[in-house]
Amino acid sequence: MSIERATRTPVVETTPLLEVSDLRVRFRHRGRQVHAVNGLSYRLAPGRMLAIVGESGSGKSVGVRALLGLLPPTATVTGSARLDGVELVGLPDKEMRRHRGADIAVVFQDPARSLNPTMRVGDQITEAIRAHRDLDRAAARERAVELLRLVRLAAPEQRFHEYPHQLSGGMRQRVMIAIALGAEPRLLIADEATTSLDVTTQAQIMDLLLDLQRRLNMAVILISHDLGLAASYAQDVVVMYAGRAVEHAATAELFEHVRMPYTRALLGAIPTLEREAHALLPVIPGQPPDLSALPEGCPFRPRCPSATERCAQEPPLDEHEPGHWWACWHPVEEASA
Ligand SMILES: Nc1ncnc2c1ncn2[C@@H]1O[C@H](COP(=O)(O)OP(=O)(O)OP(=O)(O)O)[C@@H](O)[C@H]1O
Ligand code: SF4
Ligand SMILES: [Mg+2]
Repeated sequence: MSIERATRTPVVETTPLLEVSDLRVRFRHRGRQVHAVNGLSYRLAPGRMLAIVGESGSGKSVGVRALLGLLPPTATVTGSARLDGVELVGLPDKEMRRHRGADIAVVFQDPARSLNPTMRVGDQITEAIRAHRDLDRAAARERAVELLRLVRLAAPEQRFHEYPHQLSGGMRQRVMIAIALGAEPRLLIADEATTSLDVTTQAQIMDLLLDLQRRLNMAVILISHDLGLAASYAQDVVVMYAGRAVEHAATAELFEHVRMPYTRALLGAIPTLEREAHALLPVIPGQPPDLSALPEGCPFRPRCPSATERCAQEPPLDEHEPGHWWACWHPVEEASA
């Protein structure tokens, strides 16, 4: 696995674009409370790419949907998520809609479901541009073709007039990215955006996202099961467990000086990753906790080989070294890391 592309600079040297603190989301579900996000905290500086990794059900998607106001009415969101100083938690729907798309845009896994099958792709991009920018139809159409070119879709003028079913999965995902870029957002969230694509197309879309991030100085949150992908492209990483950030650092720092036993277990698969550049998260013995009956103390305790009685107290996520946060009473020692 290559982490050369990830820079070694600390996570935050400038004022963060996004600062998430103690974010909590719970759902009412069949008479129970599901604690999907439990005090999530992390920061993202402008123009950087942050990967959020963790097992299925660790709250990666719910955590970003809370930023976008895209949760069902059964959800209660508390805590804070400030984008450029604007508090997103508790924002009225109308204002949230204005931010969504304009300041933060999102690309999901399944472009086939996100695109309107009865509308030409160019018209869908044009609409997205006009929803946020004061351009007349002709100027917006011209911008839409430019965006198709920016996302490296071959023959953009011709593709503009096509319907989604005439495009391949990779092309449709490029169209989704063009729609997301329509309002020139400062933050693009890609939630498993390349998961349904074959490995070659996945790499092309990731290269495109990296190129756009650099050229447009846009921050990107990359949500992925794929540690290899996160390590190759993102500059910063947040590792989530049971709805919390348990370790957060620049990618190279995290991979070279892992501190949290959970991250250590995830990285146990590095030899596999070297053989197989796109291996998924490894299987760690035991089950993640039941989110409607969270254990006291550290949520990783029932599965952790280093657990002691002290772990019955929940460890805080602290910045123990500059730019490196972890939540553990007994961090992995350098010699055994
Ligand atoms: N509408 C809902 N009602 C009740 N529980 C929900 C709802 N949406 C999500 N959850 C629960 O919240 C938890 C976190 O879900 P989330 O989708 O964020 O996980 P994830 O980390 O994105 O997983 P994956 O990698 O599988 O996408 C899960 O246990 C899920 O079942
Ligand atoms: S706090 Fe304790 S249980 Fe939790 S990860 Fe650290 S050593 Fe393991
Ligand atoms: Mg998800």
